[in-house]
Amino acid sequence: MEKALRSFLLTLLLLFHYVMPTSAMTRTNVSTDQLTLLSLKSQISSDPFHYLDESWSPATYVCHWVGVTYDYRHQRVKSLNLSNMILTGTIPRDFGNLTFLVSHDLRRNKFHGNLPQEMVHLRQLKFLDLSLNKFSGEVPSWFGFLDQLQYLYLRYNSFTGSIPPSLSNASRLETLVISANLLEGNIPEEIGNLHNLKYLSMEINQLTGSIPFTIFNISRIEVIAFTDNRLSGDLPNGLCNRLPLLKGLHLTGNKLHGHMPTSLSNCSQLQILDLSGNEFDRRIRTEIGRLSNLQELYLGSNHFTGIIPQEIGNLVNLVELGVESNQITGSIPISIFNISSLQIVLLRENNLKGSLPREIGHLTKMQLLYLDENRFTGNKLSGLIPNSLGYLTHLHFLNLWGNNLTSSDSSLSFLTSLTNCRRLTVLSLSLNPLNGMLPVSVRNFSKSLVNFYAAACNINGQIPNEVGNLTNLIDLDLSNNNFIGSIPTSIHNLRNLQGMSFPCNKLTGFIGDHIRKLQHLGRVKARALRVKKRGRREEGEGEEEGKKEEDQASSVKIIMDFRRG
Ligand SMILES: *[C@@H]1O[C@H](CO)[C@@H](O)[C@H](O)[C@H]1NC(C)=O
Ligand SMILES: *[C@@H]1O[C@H](CO)[C@@H](O)[C@H](O)[C@H]1NC(C)=O
Ligand SMILES: *[C@@H]1O[C@H](CO)[C@@H](O)[C@H](O)[C@H]1NC(C)=O
Ligand SMILES: *[C@@H]1O[C@H](CO)[C@@H](O)[C@H](O)[C@H]1NC(C)=O
Ligand SMILES: *[C@@H]1O[C@H](CO)[C@@H](O)[C@H](O)[C@H]1NC(C)=O
Ligand SMILES: *[C@@H]1O[C@H](CO)[C@@H](O)[C@H](O)[C@H]1NC(C)=O
Ligand SMILES: *[C@@H]1O[C@H](CO)[C@@H](O)[C@H](O)[C@H]1NC(C)=O
Ligand SMILES: *[C@@H]1O[C@H](CO)[C@@H](O)[C@H](O)[C@H]1NC(C)=O
Ligand SMILES: *[C@@H]1O[C@H](CO)[C@@H](O)[C@H](O)[C@H]1NC(C)=O
Ligand SMILES: *[C@@H]1O[C@H](CO)[C@@H](O)[C@H](O)[C@H]1NC(C)=O
Repeated sequence: MEKALRSFLLTLLLLFHYVMPTSAMTRTNVSTDQLTLLSLKSQISSDPFHYLDESWSPATYVCHWVGVTYDYRHQRVKSLNLSNMILTGTIPRDFGNLTFLVSHDLRRNKFHGNLPQEMVHLRQLKFLDLSLNKFSGEVPSWFGFLDQLQYLYLRYNSFTGSIPPSLSNASRLETLVISANLLEGNIPEEIGNLHNLKYLSMEINQLTGSIPFTIFNISRIEVIAFTDNRLSGDLPNGLCNRLPLLKGLHLTGNKLHGHMPTSLSNCSQLQILDLSGNEFDRRIRTEIGRLSNLQELYLGSNHFTGIIPQEIGNLVNLVELGVESNQITGSIPISIFNISSLQIVLLRENNLKGSLPREIGHLTKMQLLYLDENRFTGNKLSGLIPNSLGYLTHLHFLNLWGNNLTSSDSSLSFLTSLTNCRRLTVLSLSLNPLNGMLPVSVRNFSKSLVNFYAAACNINGQIPNEVGNLTNLIDLDLSNNNFIGSIPTSIHNLRNLQGMSFPCNKLTGFIGDHIRKLQHLGRVKARALRVKKRGRREEGEGEEEGKKEEDQASSVKIIMDFRRG
């Protein structure tokens, strides 16, 4: 099929070359570049939106072709932009004849096969984006000869093998993105020779070995991203002493260990520090409080011990804080409640004690507050659930599961306060000794409320009829309480309800399911956060991948939506 198309086009070309000159002057000059592009076109087996069908024709001059920028002075093709055309095909060997090509953007197509070695002749190339295709084979070592190359994007392809050390000969590289491939082996030390590098991403591969310390010598580097590989070893002590411009350090999902280097405090420009999902241990360094530009701090799923240093309160620009799944003790430092920019706080699965202070009401931008999910291990915050939660009008997700929190009064007035949170979607209070009655004000919860869990909360009295007003509820768990009376008939209004567990308050057997469900939710949510974060870094291009996970649970969709919003 491809062959047939190709030979047809070649015949066409020959026709033009030999026959047309006599008939049409304007068509006599079929430049090499035009031939090369026609050769490329002949390798394209599918062009569903007909971008090239008509435009790329020998009958029109190449400077008018879609996606082609022409250098009139040299009469050569200067740049190609075929991004987002969903073309299927391969790159022909002739492609290397486009020797004036400066920029080639092939992002989001379905090109496959190897990159032909002849591309080494593209010595003017400054910008090459092959992301979101299906290229395979090894990352070519001849990239190292492209000595003008400044931007190289290969993310979301199927490149295999290891990273060629020769890549480090492309010494003008400023951006190197080879994330989301199937690369393995070590990161070559030579990468540290790329002294112009500002953005380095090798995320979502299977790289092993330790991070070569040479990378921490690239003084211009702004972003280092190795998320989701199998890297081990520790971080060098003087990590930040040579990286004054570092803005993002993304190391999530590896096997790095050791303690957090004190020198981190010297990365004063740092905005994102993501060390979650590793094996770091010992205390969270107090020096972290000096990273005053920090916006995202993720330390979750490690082996950190000790307390959350109160110096974290100095991070006045912090938006997202994740310290979940460690062995953190002590109480939540009150200084955290001074960080009015906070939107996400994940503290679940630690050994936190103490209270949830009234000052939480200062965090008016809060969207997600995740304090626990496990009955037997994890945090045990005590004391009152503050009514000031009602000031958190952006709150989407509140999980206080399995703590030791109670209400200041038997009418559970904190619930009435929470009805102010008009975006509240998931509310989980299960396994806290609330000791009161469900107030009729539950009818004032926003229609956004989808998951409401208040199992084993020692709630008594009747289930108010007004529960029937929560018409968008999908999952409701009021099991293992002390409700009396009958189930209100208004429950029939809850047409979306899929999971229901109540009142049956003298019965057991329901709760286990719900614990499992919520734990699942927690895990999926953590993944959703990761996918989302990754997606954002990949300018939304990880979305397809994120979508798969999104389907796993409807709750995740809620969280994803909220994270997007
Ligand atoms: C291209 O066409 C111009 C006239 O339009 C002619 O002068 C020139 O020789 C042609 N070049 C080639 C390579 O055919
Ligand atoms: C590309 O260059 C090679 C070698 O110079 C040549 O053989 C080939 O015909 C050229 N291809 C096109 C499409 O011009
Ligand atoms: C290619 O075109 C797309 C869509 O117009 C644009 O967003 C992108 O920046 C272009 N690429 C380059 C390298 O200019
Ligand atoms: C990289 O450059 C060095 C010095 O010019 C050279 O010795 C080496 O062979 C090059 N490596 C590759 C694979 O290009
Ligand atoms: C970093 O650079 C310094 C000199 O600039 C050198 O002494 C040191 O060995 C380099 N470290 C690494 C790990 O490459
Ligand atoms: C921060 O950098 C300065 C200058 O390089 C150095 O003297 C100091 O020891 C560093 N601090 C830490 C904690 O590494
Ligand atoms: C909170 O901020 C205020 C005003 O900046 C300051 O006076 C207070 O000491 C801070 N509280 C804590 C616990 O950091
Ligand atoms: C729960 O809180 C009560 C006081 O509200 C306290 O007496 C009790 O010791 C706490 N239990 C745990 C396990 O922290
Ligand atoms: C609920 O909302 C209505 C209307 O906003 C208000 O009048 C009422 O006081 C609220 N509280 C309760 C308990 O229903
Ligand atoms: C609650 O439901 C009742 C009965 O359907 C309805 O009359 C009332 O307006 C609803 N109240 C709110 C606050 O939605």
